[in-house]
Amino acid sequence: MLRQQHNLGYGLALAATSVLLWGLLKGRGPNYDPAAQSGPQEPGATSGVFTPAHPSLADAWRDFFNRRPAPEQPIAYTHKVHLVKVGMHCTDCHVGADTGPDARIPGVKVCMTCHQVIATDKPEIKKLAAYLQRGEEIPWQRVYGFTALAHLKFNHAPHIRASVDCKVCHGDMTQVTVAARSVDITMGFCIDCHKAKNASIDCTVCHF
Ligand code: HEC
Ligand code: HEC
Ligand code: HEC
Ligand code: HEC
Ligand code: HEC
Repeated sequence: MLRQQHNLGYGLALAATSVLLWGLLKGRGPNYDPAAQSGPQEPGATSGVFTPAHPSLADAWRDFFNRRPAPEQPIAYTHKVHLVKVGMHCTDCHVGADTGPDARIPGVKVCMTCHQVIATDKPEIKKLAAYLQRGEEIPWQRVYGFTALAHLKFNHAPHIRASVDCKVCHGDMTQVTVAARSVDITMGFCIDCHKAKNASIDCTVCHF
């Protein structure tokens, strides 16, 4: 209860300043391209009735306070099995996490290097094979990510170089099937650690 009130107060304070800062931050981005943002893909998000980013006031509110519907994935993928039973490492699949800004999600071809022969009789693997056969990618729903409105530039690589474990920001993936937003990644979450580790808290480090 206390924490919720604190968050609400924080949110309202941000709401007040964001009106001013929005213009400021927006002005900084010559390369700004909403289409390139890796934020969650909300159905109908392009209709732009309320603002270009939010089809309705309710969507804007949900976005701002980080209330998002739990994503429903097209295939019942399991992190637990691949990490614990198969013994794979995060970066076997999320190949960009230690080298660049985006961690990336593997394409269906990567999955099928194994599943051409492994568990081929299982219904979920049949679905997987069908995507490849149709020449389609799997439409995974985004779990983490920011609204385009926040103008964020997150970069994985410096964190991995500084030995920040994936777990700190994404929870213990060895215990889950599909990913869930188990860590609430707010501005306070980023700033607290940056202060603790003497990393920069300059607005332009994280915002464009
Ligand atoms: C290195 C080999 C390998 C790769 C790459 C791989 N898997 Fe698997 N996967 C396995 C193994 C081994 C199992 C366990 C099979 C079993 O329990 O019989 C498994 C199990 C599964 C299952 C559970 C099947 C069931 O119903 O029991 C799903 C779903 C699955 N994988 C999806 C994927 C997807 C999606 C990808 C790509 C993102 C992928 N796998 C990549 C080896 C792999
Ligand atoms: C300091 C916090 C932090 C750490 C550490 C971190 N991530 Fe992330 N991760 C994020 C944030 C924030 C996003 C959303 C970024 C966005 O949408 O711009 C994200 C997004 C992702 C995505 C979605 C695809 C993408 O590229 O955006 C995957 C997959 C992912 N992370 C995997 C990993 C793996 C694997 C590790 C460890 C090797 C890791 N992350 C470490 C914060 C972190
Ligand atoms: C065999 C491939 C594979 C391995 C290994 C793997 N993942 Fe994933 N990961 C996926 C797939 C496929 C998805 C998309 C489905 C989902 O959201 O669960 C995903 C999704 C994610 C997401 C959510 C991305 C987003 O924002 O939509 C995070 C975070 C993530 N993985 C972190 C990790 C971490 C951390 C590890 C290691 C502890 C790891 N993964 C290991 C295949 C893998
Ligand atoms: C658990 C600690 C931790 C968390 C949480 C964290 N960071 Fe960092 N961040 C670091 C460290 C450590 C560095 C590396 C500083 C260095 O290399 O000097 C860093 C570096 C960065 C850099 C690169 C800075 C530069 O000078 O190039 C960016 C951008 C960044 N973080 C953004 C974020 C954002 C956005 C979030 C929240 C989504 C976040 N960080 C959360 C610890 C953290
Ligand atoms: C270490 C990274 C980091 C730094 C430094 C940082 N921010 Fe943020 N900021 C974030 C993240 C992450 C979010 C989005 C949180 C979310 O989606 O809930 C955010 C959100 C915001 C928002 C709300 C945007 C919206 O409408 O959703 C404003 C305004 C903002 N930041 C302003 C600032 C200002 C001003 C500074 C400098 C004093 C600053 N930020 C420094 C990470 C950072």
